[in-house]
Amino acid sequence: MRVTLSVIKADVGSIGGHTKPGDTMVQSCEDLMRQAKTSGLLIDGIVTYTGDDLCLIMSHTLGKGASLIHLFAWNVFKEATRIAKHYGFYGAGQDLLVDAPSGNVRGAGPAVAETEFELLPNHRPAEAFLVFAADKCGPGAYNFALWNTLCNPMRNGGLLLSPKLFLGFTATVIDMDHKDKNTDRIIKINTAEGLGHIKLAALLRNIDRFAIEAAYSNAYPNEQFVSVSATRLHNIAGKYTGKDDPIMIVRTQGIFSATEEVVEPFKDCPFVTGDCRGSHTMALMPVSIQTPVRGGYCQPIVSCLAFSMNQNGQFTEEEIDIFEGLEWEEARQKALAKSSYMREQGFFGVAMASEEEIAYTGLVERMKELYPRFEIRKNE
Ligand code: 13P
Ligand code: MG
Ligand code: MG
Repeated sequence: MRVTLSVIKADVGSIGGHTKPGDTMVQSCEDLMRQAKTSGLLIDGIVTYTGDDLCLIMSHTLGKGASLIHLFAWNVFKEATRIAKHYGFYGAGQDLLVDAPSGNVRGAGPAVAETEFELLPNHRPAEAFLVFAADKCGPGAYNFALWNTLCNPMRNGGLLLSPKLFLGFTATVIDMDHKDKNTDRIIKINTAEGLGHIKLAALLRNIDRFAIEAAYSNAYPNEQFVSVSATRLHNIAGKYTGKDDPIMIVRTQGIFSATEEVVEPFKDCPFVTGDCRGSHTMALMPVSIQTPVRGGYCQPIVSCLAFSMNQNGQFTEEEIDIFEGLEWEEARQKALAKSSYMREQGFFGVAMASEEEIAYTGLVERMKELYPRFEIRKNE
């Protein structure tokens, strides 16, 4: 049996600023998800939120980019928007950037991560996966952690200990500055070939332009390890409308890295673009799911749920909230401390996002006014 995991998220309204969706919005998503399971459209589905982003985690048999699934998600978000408007929530419908999507919501505002696989083949007797959701972040927010998991034995001992992981991965990196609506600009890099791991680092260091979109196992080239939503809202809308807030699916264990090898790099709390007005740099804080954004200056946050899947493609009764609890408390303190240091310099230098990022904000107007007023002065 082939199963597709589709994770689709959108910010369609939140309470008192960019904090969290209303409970009534979440309930409405859950009701519609339940109906879709009863009708047979979905095998399984759950609803979570991280900050102000609603996240639909679905399993089905219709393949990646299936219009029935995408339009279902769109309609779920439309209904949540209606509720957000009714209650006067902030930013109702914020990420629904077109009137009606053509069938695939990628490029219409919501973020999409999908992966399709044969369920429980001989080489993979158990299906385990993680779903990450980040708020107040650009799509390069996972670059640091993913590079460590794909390339760095200091962080992923499996690269040394597992003969399958030793063969490395092939990553698809997307150029997020490419603005043609009908095409993507991508490069595939094999981490184990011709210093591929260093070449990958050379691209991923620019978190505002390049992001890993997918990674596959070299040992089993048809098996997808990672899927990330790597789209730019400002490329769709032409101006700043909210942050991209990427989601990511990572399949784990067996032929892939262990769960702990994927989550460990998040303890470093890398500085990412995002935060207040999507225009600053702060440290990414690992948090429990259903966490509102309350931090000073919209501290960027990331949640992670671990799932197992049974032979019918259903999620197990319980999911594990990886970043909940004591084990991640120290990382949270670290993220707060790193961010406080950065905030001490307000908008100066690296505390504000790169020129490319702020090109979609009101700062452009100031530059338009000021640049022509520069004068050329002859050297004495
Ligand atoms: P969101 O993208 O999460 O809506 O946040 C937008 C923002 O500008 C926060 O200051
Ligand atoms: Mg918002
Ligand atoms: Mg958000």
